[in-house]
Amino acid sequence: MEIKRVYKVYFSATYTTKKVVDVIANELCNSIIDCDITSQSLTETIEMDRGDVLVIGMPVYGGRIPASTLQSIIKLKGNNTPAVISCVYGNRDYDDALLELRNEVEARGFKIVSASAFVARHSIFTQIAKDRPNLDDMAQVLQFAIRSKSIIETLDDFSLLQQIDVKGNMPYKVFNQLPMYPTSNEYCVECGVCASKCPVGAISNDNPRATNELKCLACGRCIIECAVGARDFSGEFFEARAVKFQDAFSAPKANEMYYAEINIL
Ligand SMILES: Cc1cc2nc3c(=O)[nH]c(=O)nc-3n(C[C@H](O)[C@H](O)[C@H](O)COP(=O)(O)O)c2cc1C
Repeated sequence: MEIKRVYKVYFSATYTTKKVVDVIANELCNSIIDCDITSQSLTETIEMDRGDVLVIGMPVYGGRIPASTLQSIIKLKGNNTPAVISCVYGNRDYDDALLELRNEVEARGFKIVSASAFVARHSIFTQIAKDRPNLDDMAQVLQFAIRSKSIIETLDDFSLLQQIDVKGNMPYKVFNQLPMYPTSNEYCVECGVCASKCPVGAISNDNPRATNELKCLACGRCIIECAVGARDFSGEFFEARAVKFQDAFSAPKANEMYYAEINIL
């Protein structure tokens, strides 16, 4: 099939997932529709036509894809449309996230051409995989995109693709939100950038020093967007957890790439 258009759908609070899907989408086609669902869920149904490809990327949160993204995924409608799916994780584990993403995307009428799990800096424990994705990772992302493109271009009927057997189990791991939220420190000048960039409105515009812990995803966006380094994770629970994490998950993990086999009639 000739690729005419790519829908690039992603949630990316600290921009590593975006980095991955950008490379994949750019390699597949020049015509890209950018659907950043980090701060805004899809409200309208997107029905794909022949020639369209879905490129979708999600970070791993507690071994799952972020729950809030499901309301956007259900708005996607494929008609045996090829899809390239990726999850990006912080070098601990991606557990059931890729399986969940595969199942959700397939249930919307897409055929998965390829699937991947790439390693990136952990957005809470930022010393873990702190320089990833590095140049070697990005070269692997590009290779993944090139191979995915060649499968799409050689095939015409995507119903011939066999389901990809990715890692993961059902029922999926239960998401367990840890009591850790970024707070502001003494450098805060109350500029409000964190409040305006928070995906879930957990920081008040009137008082950016306050975080609504019930809403906060701990996604790390406020930390990365603050120009003066005024937001961070801190506190005893966080510090203790960070030490444990560093001991357990510092050894670099390899990226994983899967490609669908084609059923020969
Ligand atoms: C709430 C939360 C939960 C996370 N859970 C996991 C996890 O289960 N396994 C893992 O390896 N990384 C985990 N991470 C790290 C992210 O998956 C990783 O940093 C990813 O690159 C973030 O993507 P982004 O830069 O697009 O926001 C978690 C991060 C957050 C904020």
